Amino acid sequence: MRLDKLLANLGYGSRKEVKQLLKSGAVKVNDVVVKDAKQHVDPLNEMVTLNGEVIEYKEFIYLMMNKPAGVLSATEDNREETVIDLLEVDDQVYQPFPVGRLDKDTEGLLLITNDGQLAHRLLAPKKHVPKTYFAVINQEVTEEDILAFKKGVTLDDGYVTKPGELKIVKSGLHSDIELTITEGKFHQVKRMFEAVGKKVLYLKRISMGPLLLDETLELGEYRELTEEEIELLKEYQVN
Ligand code: URA
Repeated sequence: MRLDKLLANLGYGSRKEVKQLLKSGAVKVNDVVVKDAKQHVDPLNEMVTLNGEVIEYKEFIYLMMNKPAGVLSATEDNREETVIDLLEVDDQVYQPFPVGRLDKDTEGLLLITNDGQLAHRLLAPKKHVPKTYFAVINQEVTEEDILAFKKGVTLDDGYVTKPGELKIVKSGLHSDIELTITEGKFHQVKRMFEAVGKKVLYLKRISMGPLLLDETLELGEYRELTEEEIELLKEYQVN
């Protein structure tokens, strides 16, 4: 990773300010003064100091992506593009992975991190972390569907879902809905609608626990979580 990017990422100023810092000779890599902002460093294995103080390299990275359709929620795949392929190399070095899966054709909120403990807590079935999806359905969604989802519907493999909260956003021949579920069975939203004889035409996740999709992110774009979002996720408890 470029030295100026490393320092800027860690909060030592803008790229321009960091350049000045480097010019002043305040930064050393493995005890050698480095003034070249473009120099690459391996922050996990090289010692970077600023005015003699060792710079702590962050261990964890927390990214929110607005996943586009057409890419896999996986770390690698021989044939298809994955969400990790969409990250900059400087973020890939942290070896992050997606927390849970969205189908290839599903868009929206995807948390990508290398914090295994946090991922585990968010994914553990016992935690019942709510996830809300926006969907377009191929028919009119009705009050009966709302009641059926509230009770739990029987999927094609006989599994009865936990209660889901269904809201009709726009009713019509194609209905817009929001559905909140607390489980993550394979293709769950699509299969819940199949259970009531309907089909999901478009699916996008808009929230996961306390984390809301940042609608300013274009499809395929991502950003680091704010400190506040990270705190919210870490403190998040549901039963
Ligand atoms: N439910 C689905 O059917 N697909 C997803 O990607 C997420 C939830």
